[in-house]
Amino acid sequence: MAPIVSVEKLTKTYGNGFQALKGVDLQIEEGEILALLGPNGAGKTTLISIICGIVNPSSGRVMVNGHDVVRDFRKTRSLIGLVPQELTTDQFETVWNTVSFSRGVYGCKANPALIEKVLKDLSLWSKKDNMIRELSGGMKRRVLIAKALSHEPKVLFLDEPTAGVDVNLRREMWQVVEKLRENGVTIILTTHYIEEAEEIADRVGVINGGELLLLEDKKTLMKKLGRKQLRLELSAPLAALPPGLAGFNLVLSDDGTALMHEYHGDEAQGSVPSLLNALTLENIHFKDLSTRQSSLEDIFVALVGEKA
Ligand SMILES: Nc1ncnc2c1ncn2[C@@H]1O[C@H](COP(=O)(O)OP(=O)(O)OP(=O)(O)O)[C@@H](O)[C@H]1O
Ligand SMILES: [Mg+2]
Repeated sequence: MAPIVSVEKLTKTYGNGFQALKGVDLQIEEGEILALLGPNGAGKTTLISIICGIVNPSSGRVMVNGHDVVRDFRKTRSLIGLVPQELTTDQFETVWNTVSFSRGVYGCKANPALIEKVLKDLSLWSKKDNMIRELSGGMKRRVLIAKALSHEPKVLFLDEPTAGVDVNLRREMWQVVEKLRENGVTIILTTHYIEEAEEIADRVGVINGGELLLLEDKKTLMKKLGRKQLRLELSAPLAALPPGLAGFNLVLSDDGTALMHEYHGDEAQGSVPSLLNALTLENIHFKDLSTRQSSLEDIFVALVGEKA
């Protein structure tokens, strides 16, 4: 199946000469949730803005559902919903009107039943007659999502949807995103919260310095780059690592009471069984053992740190 969004050799140099994107290639499949991770200034908002037709590319090509975002701006824009990073809505308008008008901007016929559903899905129904300025920060953010959904887009971009949103509300938003996906909406979100990507994304892209450093299925990524650590609490402290264990990737804790062993998560024939055998041969006993899998955060820090 053709990708719903296709980005080819995309570059962006802003008017002041700053190169924010340095040749990005990205294919987004229909129905997936893609999380774009990257530090401040990485180019995430620039990339999204170009796909949404708000910023012009310097070179390269972006297609949405087979239409060029520059040439067929109106067509592609009607297929896209965008929840911007900055909160921008008329403070003195009601929730109902804000969301209804937004549908009108796309030239769609009024559809009160749809607006009602969107507001209910986002737990905003009880606030429909309130002015925007009467809402909490998290509610305002949900109004932006409602606006973006008002014209029933096929692709939804969420630029830092949960920045400044409390933990409970963040979980609620994840449920909203999951529900949208169930309805067939393709979702691209940017985030600084790695646990967010870990929780809801199918694929993860990492952007830094205007380049897409990595784009991978989340599970594959965790398996490929994820490292595991085995920790053994020893029955008796060791003064030093015995020479018989030199071949293993081992670290003895400062007080000599624990052994740490790092290994790759995807090792088919892991080093752990042979390590345990070697320990028996060396007559080293342990009273407890634990393993830890590195998280997406560890992977991200290692990757961005490497290239910085
Ligand atoms: N209109 C502009 N003119 C010049 N430079 C810009 C403009 N907009 C963005 N930039 C620069 O482009 C780079 C990428 O910015 P962008 O907003 O895409 O980053 P981001 O990844 O979204 O960051 P954040 O996580 O802070 O939102 C930054 O260095 C920024 O200063
Ligand atoms: Mg941004």
